[in-house]
Amino acid sequence: MKLFAPLLLAALGGLSSGFSFAADPALPAPIDRVPAKSAKPDIANGEVVFNGKSCAACHSGDGNSAIPANPKLAQQHPEYLLKQLQEFKSGKRKSAVMSGMAAMLSEQEMRDVAWFLGSKPIKPGFAKDKDLVALGEKI
Ligand code: HEC
Repeated sequence: MKLFAPLLLAALGGLSSGFSFAADPALPAPIDRVPAKSAKPDIANGEVVFNGKSCAACHSGDGNSAIPANPKLAQQHPEYLLKQLQEFKSGKRKSAVMSGMAAMLSEQEMRDVAWFLGSKPIKPGFAKDKDLVALGEKI
């Protein structure tokens, strides 16, 4: 029996270190393993996409559209813009122009574009009737 004692201790030692090793996978997942849904927006790529896919032709390069029919996108909430693009693509929000435009964008590109636009300061609009603006601000 005496002969087995050191062997037993060695085996136990091995077992306990084995345990601590086995516990590692139970640790919380590192940040870079979070699902793609919360992928980080790439603002620089957003600018490239926005200009490259002719969005700028209607909404202007910095999202401050000069044409009243096309909404200004600068400084809008990125989450809102992303949702609009997703809904144009899915058909939930209907627009003859925008559903085709949004269809060209991947999920990541929509995110990049939305955060790029959100980072752009809005410029004063094209409201011509100052009284109406004042009234609108009161409401
Ligand atoms: C031919 C002109 C045109 C082009 C090109 C265009 N848009 Fe638009 N966009 C519009 C119009 C018009 C609307 C308003 C649609 C509506 O409400 O029916 C709009 C709406 C939007 C909205 C929603 C704004 C809001 O306040 O709800 C977003 C976001 C948007 N566009 C992003 C883009 C992006 C990104 C691209 C490029 C992939 C693009 N647009 C290309 C004309 C255009």
